[in-house]
Amino acid sequence: MAAANMPLVAADDEWSPLKSVIVGRAENSAFPSEAAHMIEATMPEEHHANFRSHNPFPADIVAKAQLELDNFAALLEREGIKVYRPRKVDWVKVGGYTGAMPRDCLMTVGNTLIEAPFAWKCRRHEVQLGYSDILDQLASGDSSSAPVRICRAPLIIGQDTLYDGLLKKPEANGHSRHANGGQKWAINNSRPAFDTADFMRFGKTIIGQLSNVTNHKGFQYLQAMVPDGYRVELLETTDEHAMHIDATILPLKKGVLVYNPDRVTEEELRKHNVFRDWELVAYPFVPQKRSADCPPMYMCSPWLVLNALSLDEKRIMVEEKDTQFADWVREKFGMEPIMIPFQHVNSLGGSFHCATVDLVRES
Ligand code: NVA
Repeated sequence: MAAANMPLVAADDEWSPLKSVIVGRAENSAFPSEAAHMIEATMPEEHHANFRSHNPFPADIVAKAQLELDNFAALLEREGIKVYRPRKVDWVKVGGYTGAMPRDCLMTVGNTLIEAPFAWKCRRHEVQLGYSDILDQLASGDSSSAPVRICRAPLIIGQDTLYDGLLKKPEANGHSRHANGGQKWAINNSRPAFDTADFMRFGKTIIGQLSNVTNHKGFQYLQAMVPDGYRVELLETTDEHAMHIDATILPLKKGVLVYNPDRVTEEELRKHNVFRDWELVAYPFVPQKRSADCPPMYMCSPWLVLNALSLDEKRIMVEEKDTQFADWVREKFGMEPIMIPFQHVNSLGGSFHCATVDLVRES
C-alpha cells in the first residue's frame, strides 16, 4: 500500500502488517480513582491504597515510561509505520488517569474508530482531552483518502447509575459483591459500558468479554456501532477480576492463538466459529511476579506477558526481560521478537498492546 493511497483508518485484525498506529504518552499519569468495590475487583491488592484522586504515579517511573514510549514510537517510525501521539495532558490536575493506554479508549473496526463508553468516571474525558486532535485529523482526511467514521461515546447527563446497588464494600469473607443480587461484576447493566480493550478483531468477527468494566448493554452498543457485516461475540471466561481481554488471548498471526489457561478453555474458544481451524495453544508457563527491584506492577497481573503486539505475521514486540515468552514464540511459531524495555510502561497499566491503537493494518 503506497503511503499516498493509504486509508487513514482501516484495520480488521491484530496481525496484518501494521501501517499506522497511535502510541500513548505517559507524562502526568495519575492513579485512577474509582469506587472502592471497583478497585478491589480489578486491581492488585497490595496497591489498593494508591488509587486515590489526584495521586500521581512516582515521577521517576513516569519519566522512564515516557522514554520507553518515545523509543518504541521511534522504532515503529523507522519501520515505516505512521505514528500519532496523543496531546500532553495534566492528568493529575484534571483527576484523570493517563495518555499511555489508548487501547482502552479507542478501537478500529474496518474504517470506523469507536470511542469506549467508559465505566470509570475518572476516564470519561480521556478521549476528548488526549485524542481529539487525532480524531479531527482522521475525520477531515484529504480528498484522496477513504472516508473515516468516528463514533464518539454517548454523554452521560446527570448522575451515573452504573454502580447503583453495588457501592457496598465486600464483607470480610469477600462474598458480599457476588451475593449482591447475584451480581458478578462491579458494574450493573443500567447503561452501555465497555473498555475497547475488552474486544479484539478477527476479521469480520470481534471477540470480547463481559468484565468489571464491560456490560451486556455495552456489548449490544458496540454491535450497533460496528460497520455492516461485522459481528461481535462474547467469549466466556473464568476470570472474576476480568478487565481487558488482552492478557487472556493473544493472536500471534492468522490461525495461531495463544491463550491464558487460567482464564479460558480451548472448549470455550472452539465454540466460536472463527477459531474452527485455528491452532489454539495454552501458554505453557506460569508467569512469575516481577522481582522487587523491578518497577511495581500497580495495575496488572504477571499475565501481562501476553500483552504483546504483532507488527505483522512474523515480528512481535516483547518486553526485553520477557525472555521465556520470546524464546517460546521464536522456537514454537517461528516469530521474530523485537525486544525493547517497557517495564515502566507496564507499571502504569499495560504493555505494547495496551499502549497502542492500530489505525491501519494492511490486509
Ligand atoms: N487486567 C488484566 C489485563 C491487563 C492487560 C491483567 O492484569 O491480567
